[in-house]
Amino acid sequence: MKAFVTGVTGYIGGSLAVALLKQGYEVRGLVRSNTHIRELGHLGVIPVLGSLYDTDIVARQAQDADVVVNAADADNAYVVSTLLGALKGTPTRLLHVSGASVIGDRAGGAFSDQCWTEANQPQPRLEKVGRVAIDHALQDAARDKVHTLVVCPTLVYGEGLGVRKQSIQIPLLQALARKHGVAVYAGSGENRTGHVHIQDLVSLCLLMIDEAPAGTFLFAENGEVAMKDLAQMLGNKLGFAAPAQSKSMAYLLRECCFDDPQEAEYGLGSNIRVCADRARELGWRPSHHDLLGWLAR
Ligand SMILES: NC(=O)c1ccc[n+]([C@@H]2O[C@H](COP(=O)([O-])OP(=O)(O)OC[C@H]3O[C@@H](n4cnc5c(N)ncnc54)[C@H](OP(=O)(O)O)[C@@H]3O)[C@@H](O)[C@H]2O)c1
Repeated sequence: MKAFVTGVTGYIGGSLAVALLKQGYEVRGLVRSNTHIRELGHLGVIPVLGSLYDTDIVARQAQDADVVVNAADADNAYVVSTLLGALKGTPTRLLHVSGASVIGDRAGGAFSDQCWTEANQPQPRLEKVGRVAIDHALQDAARDKVHTLVVCPTLVYGEGLGVRKQSIQIPLLQALARKHGVAVYAGSGENRTGHVHIQDLVSLCLLMIDEAPAGTFLFAENGEVAMKDLAQMLGNKLGFAAPAQSKSMAYLLRECCFDDPQEAEYGLGSNIRVCADRARELGWRPSHHDLLGWLAR
């Protein structure tokens, strides 16, 4: 069996690539530079040089695979369009990694009691419309005989299995705390985010590849945390004596030099609360639920 993975040098794509290798797949991975080729080779991944915009390379590799994992960029419609075109009428499983900020509310740190499900999602905020359209296009493509699967994780934590060991969000919050000499949160910090351990996310993805019908969309979470508590734990771990501090979203956007304001609005200030019952109904049995405990250790 053959797999093709985009985002193979990344945290999620790399972890999935290693899991597929362990299952006996021959795994090819799209890489846009030579930087990690040696490390990928040590893992057993066959690198394919190219970018998400190299239509011929992406289409050919996808058509030659039994499983395609698209874990490079949840907002890149171009590669999804290429993959959907290439896989029309084939039995290949196409697993796309989206992200649960699609239901984020930019609450500036205020708590919301709203918890969303696959069947009950809000109208996306304007900056999330593109990602939601990609997710819908993937689900709709099941009607065109493409075996599409969309997994939509909340904050992912834990040690990656591939080249990149660390997830995005917690290192970002740590860097922010180091820069300020104190851990920070937005507003009251009572906003909550779901979370899922990378090993549990991988097990859900493998289950979806094996069991889920075409067109399946699943949220992934196994617990939630208030951002104030997360900030406090990060501060403790960094050895700061002062308690975590509240900052306004305006301050965070102005002073913290985020690459993208969405990192602050969604990564710090939003409620990202979903319920992954549907994944559990499929048979998913996540074993990690304690993000703060993991951080403390
Ligand atoms: N980590 C989380 O907590 C989380 C939660 C929910 C959703 N997600 C979503 O899941 C996806 C993967 O996240 P991640 O944490 O694994 O990110 P990551 O560690 O930054 O990995 C991204 C990967 O995609 C590759 N890539 C990006 N643009 C590319 C392009 N134009 N051509 C070829 N390769 C490209 C990167 O290659 P290089 O190594 O060359 O940069 C890297 O291998 C993202 O869309 C993210 O938004 C992540």
